[in-house]
Amino acid sequence: MKGYPLFLCLFSMSCWLNLMPTAGNKIFHFGPCRISMSVTEIRSGFTAIKTNIQARDPIRTLSILSYPHSLHKVKSANRCCIARRLINFYMDKVFKHCQTEDSYVNRKISSIANSFLSMKRNLGQCHKQNKCLCGQESTKKFKQILANYERLNVTSAAMKSLGELDIFLDWMEKSA
Ligand SMILES: *[C@@H]1O[C@H](CO)[C@@H](O)[C@H](O)[C@H]1NC(C)=O
Repeated sequence: MKGYPLFLCLFSMSCWLNLMPTAGNKIFHFGPCRISMSVTEIRSGFTAIKTNIQARDPIRTLSILSYPHSLHKVKSANRCCIARRLINFYMDKVFKHCQTEDSYVNRKISSIANSFLSMKRNLGQCHKQNKCLCGQESTKKFKQILANYERLNVTSAAMKSLGELDIFLDWMEKSA
């Protein structure tokens, strides 16, 4: 039944949404992995809470994503691996520790988390197809990010990482 998955896909809305560039979506090239997604939507959700989130992070002497040049000049072949690891990082170590007393902020965070979940699925597909290989560079850069994260307690590290989401979004948009 070779045609079966395609057949299913034709009748499954979510599958179509993953394959077809829908309104606001762009095709991103992470090395050999191509995915369609809308960073604009994540960006606007984040912009709405950015000031609020950054005000919860008083530590100015440290950065999680931008030290030392963690995301600069990643070779094309390593971009999928870094994107995938960072998305998993945000899912496992950031969003769930960013609950606030403000339900508006929490709603925005969970909508960003939902967008991340669909990117995670798409990148997971690339990973299964061996299009998301992790070279030394990506392993080294991701280790540095984790080391930065681990210098703070879970709550502070999560707020700081969320406050730096722009850095990751900027980086992803360079792959479009
Ligand atoms: C985490 O660190 C921050 C800043 O150093 C501190 O204000 C906060 O109380 C700490 N939280 C916990 C749960 O240790």
